[in-house]
Amino acid sequence: MATIPTDRSPDSTLTFLRTGYPFIGQRCERYGSDIFQTRLLLEPTICLRGRAAAELFYDTERFVRENAMPTRGQRTLTGRGGVQGLDGDAHHDRKAMFMSLMTPAAVQRLGQLFTDEWQARLPAWVLAGTVTLHPEIASMLTRAVCAWAGVPLSDGEADRRTADLQAMIDSAGAVGPRHWRGRLGRKRSESWAGDLVERVRDGSLAAPEDTALRVIAEHRDGTGRPLPRPIAAVELLNVIRPTVAVARFVVFAALALHDHPAWQQRVRGDDDATEQFVQEVRRYYPFFPVSAARVRRDFDWRGYHFPQGRRVLLDLYGTDHDPALWPEPERFRPERFAGWRGDPFALVPQGGGGHLTGHRCAGEWITIELMKRAVSVLTEVIRYDVPPQDLAVDLRRMPTLPASGFVVTTVRRTG
Ligand code: HEM
Repeated sequence: MATIPTDRSPDSTLTFLRTGYPFIGQRCERYGSDIFQTRLLLEPTICLRGRAAAELFYDTERFVRENAMPTRGQRTLTGRGGVQGLDGDAHHDRKAMFMSLMTPAAVQRLGQLFTDEWQARLPAWVLAGTVTLHPEIASMLTRAVCAWAGVPLSDGEADRRTADLQAMIDSAGAVGPRHWRGRLGRKRSESWAGDLVERVRDGSLAAPEDTALRVIAEHRDGTGRPLPRPIAAVELLNVIRPTVAVARFVVFAALALHDHPAWQQRVRGDDDATEQFVQEVRRYYPFFPVSAARVRRDFDWRGYHFPQGRRVLLDLYGTDHDPALWPEPERFRPERFAGWRGDPFALVPQGGGGHLTGHRCAGEWITIELMKRAVSVLTEVIRYDVPPQDLAVDLRRMPTLPASGFVVTTVRRTG
C-alpha cells in the first residue's frame, strides 16, 4: 500500500485560511501528487485535485455527506438538515424536488425577471452616474429570484433581505466579524423563510403552482411527511441565497470584459461566443474553493488507503486550474470552450458528477442563464466607463471579489 504524502504541520487550518484558494494546488505541486493528507480543524483530512479525483469524489458509493461540512459552515452558509448533508434515498428524493424547479421554461422565466429588473433600474443608473455593480446586481437578483420563487418581497424589506443573504454568502470561509454577520443573516433569513412556508401551509399566503415556495411547502419526503419547518426554510434559502450569489460571477464577467475588451465585440449577439465566455468566467475566477465529503467505508484507490469516516476535500478551484486538464490555466481564454463537449469531472466550479444522482449544484443552468443575460446587458444594452479603482482579486479571501466591487461611471443606454 502506498503512503499518502502527508503535511507534517500539526494543523493547517490557519495556513489554509491565510493561503486561500491556492492552498491545495500549491501542496499538490510541492508533493508532485494530486493527493495528500493534512490536518484541518484538528482532523486528518485527505485533499484531492484533478479529473480522476473528481470522478472518485462524486462516487456516492464511496463517499457520504453526513457530517462532512464543518459546523461553522452550517451555521452560516448552508444551514442544517438541507440537501447538501443528505445521502442515499433521502438525498435522491430531496434533490429531485430541487431539479423539478429547473425546467428550461422556469430557467428562462428567472432569466427574464432578472433582465426586467435591470431594465427597470437603468434610468436610476443613468441618473446616478456612478454605480457599484456587486451590491446592485445582488439586489436585482434578490428581487428577481423572490418573484420567481413565489416569495412576496416589499420594497421596504428588499435591502434588508439582500444584506442578510449577502452576509451568509460572504461568511463562507470567514472567521471573526464576517462569520458572525453570516450567522445573524442566517438566523433572520431562516425565520423569514420559515414564516413563508407556514403561511402557505395554513392558506394565508397563496404561492403560485410550481414556484419554489409552493413546491417546498408541499413537498413530502419518502415517508410521506412534509418537511419540518426549519428544514423547509433551509431549502427555500437553498434556492434564494445561491441565486443572489450569482452576482459575484456577474462581477467577474464584467471584470473579464474589461480586461479582455476584444470579447465585448465577440459576445455581442453571438450565443456560442457568450456561452464560451461564461464557461471560462466560471472556470477561471474563484468562488467555492473546495467541497467536503467523508469516506463511506474503507476502500483503496490507486494504491492509497481511504479509511471509513475520513474527511476528504476536493479542490474545485485547483481542478478548474489543473494544467493537466486546462492548458495554460492562468490565462483567460474562452476559445478553449469552442466545441467543448462537456465533461462532468473537469469543469467543477459548481461541483461535478450528475445533477440528479449526486451533489452537483442544482442551480448550474440558472447560473449560466443569468450570466448570459448579464453579459448581454453589459455589452448590448448599456455603455459605461470603468474609472481607476482597485480591481485586485485577493485569492486569500474566500469568497473573493474585485476589491472595489466593480464601479462603473457615466452609464448610458446604447442607441
Ligand atoms: C454563483 C453560482 C453558484 C455556485 C458557485 C454554486 C456552487 C455550488 C457548489 C460548489 C455546490 C456543492 C457541490 C458539492 O457538494 O460537491 C453547490 C450545490 C448546490 N447548489 Fe449551487 N452554486 C451556485 C448557484 C446555485 C443556484 C443559482 C442554485 C439554485 C437556484 C443553487 C443550488 C444548489 C443546491 C440546492 C446545492 C446542493 C446540491 C446537493 O447537495 O445535491 N446553486 N453549488
